[in-house]
Amino acid sequence: MARVVLKDVCKNFGTFQAVKNVNLEIADKEFVVLVGPSGCGKSTTLRMIAGLEEVTSGEIYIGDRLVNDVPPKDRDIAMVFQNYALYPHMNVYQNMSFALRLRKMPKAEIDRRVKEAAELLGIATLLKRKPKELSGGQRQRVALGRAIVREPQVFLLDEPLSNLDAKLRVQMRSEISKLHRRLEATIIYVTHDQTEAMTMGDRIVVMKDGVIQQVGAPLDIYERPVNAFVAGFIGSPAMNFMSCTLVEEAGQFSVKTSGFTLPIPAELVKAEELRPYVGAELLFGIRPEDIVDANDQLNHETEFLNVQVDVVEPMGNECYVHGSLGADAFIARFGAHTGARPGRQHQVSLRMSKMHLFDAKTELAII
Ligand SMILES: Nc1ncnc2c1ncn2[C@@H]1O[C@H](COP(=O)(O)OP(=O)(O)OP(=O)(O)O)[C@@H](O)[C@H]1O
Ligand SMILES: [Mg+2]
Repeated sequence: MARVVLKDVCKNFGTFQAVKNVNLEIADKEFVVLVGPSGCGKSTTLRMIAGLEEVTSGEIYIGDRLVNDVPPKDRDIAMVFQNYALYPHMNVYQNMSFALRLRKMPKAEIDRRVKEAAELLGIATLLKRKPKELSGGQRQRVALGRAIVREPQVFLLDEPLSNLDAKLRVQMRSEISKLHRRLEATIIYVTHDQTEAMTMGDRIVVMKDGVIQQVGAPLDIYERPVNAFVAGFIGSPAMNFMSCTLVEEAGQFSVKTSGFTLPIPAELVKAEELRPYVGAELLFGIRPEDIVDANDQLNHETEFLNVQVDVVEPMGNECYVHGSLGADAFIARFGAHTGARPGRQHQVSLRMSKMHLFDAKTELAII
């Protein structure tokens, strides 16, 4: 297996810059997820690594080899596409072995590889079936199998689960994670689904408009987003944002929104860095789970706020409560048996130790 390195990689389509100065080092055997909204350049980045798209500038290394001018078939990668298609007239065995047969690999070796991959994917009993005789999840496994039999240095997976229903996606998600451990392969996985990114990746690369916003372990990114975009993109329901100003009184910094003024916990305050923002237009960020039901037994906060509840969505194990705090709308995650009712007031507290603060203009994180 191999590491993959992108140095200052750019891709222009005419005058449009689809990928801008991407620098990324992916370690051998690492599972890295590229995530971001539609059109942010994920597939283009993956296709450049695969050699299906020429780089406009920059360098791509697979292993220690500069591959800019190496054709796709010689890069020792296997790619599963966003819209993979199986050959409808071939059975599963023929589909999985197709690339190996093209390469004139000995029959016995092809047989070994196909059977091993089929075993790994739990499709060993389906080898004689045609694609139309398979379920969506089984087809997906065949598409993965086609990549696995090639025993490449690097797997490139472009939204491989996008065609599956929600339940099957969850199942395949954990299967691909297991597969990664068993294959000990380097995997670069593209998705626009932040849940897939959070659950599957050793590291996540968040992209927007062709630019890498942040690279890090899932929880690091969740807890310490570098800007408001990453903060809002990673996490579901998304982080709540409220316009605010920063107030300093007798050395105590507080956040003031339309609905509340609350002190910033001392452990988050670096006075010298914070002071220049006093009076400036800022964004206060708080995740839904950090808006806490006042009636929750585990609520250790002391300061409670009145909110207006608009909608209560019971999810079974918890409730999503939509409401407003002053002029700001929010979503909170409460317990399944919350007393919050639509159209009524309710009391909450904010877990200020988990608060975020962003510059409203640059959107960069301050806290
Ligand atoms: N061949 C092309 N010619 C011109 N523009 C292109 C071409 N391929 C991609 N683009 C543009 O480059 C940008 C990035 O596209 P890309 O396919 O990498 O997005 P993506 O992040 O994979 O999005 P999605 O989640 O929708 O698959 C888009 O704005 C797209 O329209
Ligand atoms: Mg794409």
